Amino acid sequence: MAKIEVKTFTENDWLEYIDDLAALEIEVFRSYPYLYDVSLEYEREYLKTYAESEQSGMIIAFDGSKVIGASTCIPMVEVEDEVKKPFEESDYPIQKVLYLGESVLLKNYRKRGIGVAFYEQREQHAQDLNMDLTAFCCIIRPDNHPLKPEGYRPLDKFWVKRGYQKQPDMKATMVWKDVHQEEESKKKLVFWVKELQNENIQPGNESEYALNKAIKMDEMLRE
Ligand SMILES: CC(C)(COP(=O)(O)OP(=O)(O)OC[C@H]1O[C@@H](n2cnc3c(N)ncnc32)[C@H](O)[C@@H]1OP(=O)(O)O)[C@@H](O)C(=O)NCCC(=O)NCCS
Repeated sequence: MAKIEVKTFTENDWLEYIDDLAALEIEVFRSYPYLYDVSLEYEREYLKTYAESEQSGMIIAFDGSKVIGASTCIPMVEVEDEVKKPFEESDYPIQKVLYLGESVLLKNYRKRGIGVAFYEQREQHAQDLNMDLTAFCCIIRPDNHPLKPEGYRPLDKFWVKRGYQKQPDMKATMVWKDVHQEEESKKKLVFWVKELQNENIQPGNESEYALNKAIKMDEMLRE
């Protein structure tokens, strides 16, 4: 096995890997609970939305020159309406939220810390953008779903360990075709949110940060 590397791209130089990334996402997301069945062209177009954003981040895991995993992020204000709606309707400062898109890793490379690196590098990107929160959403499937594999374990514990809290009242809607379906259908996804410890505060800026926090807290208490 060649050297494993997890790299954050903040410019569009990751576009040279777009076909590999689209194929990887399709392969990983075909499995339960996503059951995502889309064409390479569709996935390529979706990934391009990250290239159109000036503040997005693309994290790619390589085994030598082979793309083995990827993870995305983009400011919440830039995501589609049906996804950002719960944040617009919440008390969270949406301008300060970085949306974490997908995390996908080929099965053979799991359980070695690459997934943790995906979260750490996106949280670092959020801090570099001076954002306060990171958030992602996860599909809701019924417990008795016919395609749920025996012994399936949700990632909830993994996310809790990374400091994320499930927000049962914050749900997004997305549309795609499931592998066993003929037509696209609407899916409900539940948000998980993490408040970041702002490590970007430079000595001398502490008072401004503390003041902003105090104002925010005051606004919340007044509501
Ligand atoms: C989500 C995903 C990227 C996580 O990847 P991963 O690389 O297996 O995750 P990690 O190895 O970093 O962490 C998984 C667990 O292994 C542990 N681990 C890390 N290094 C390890 C090692 N060397 N040996 C054993 N365990 C290890 C981690 O601590 C973690 O356990 P914890 O939750 O108890 O802390 C991967 O499971 C995946 O692609 N899933 C399918 C797609 C999906 O559902 N994505 C999420 C929604 S978009």
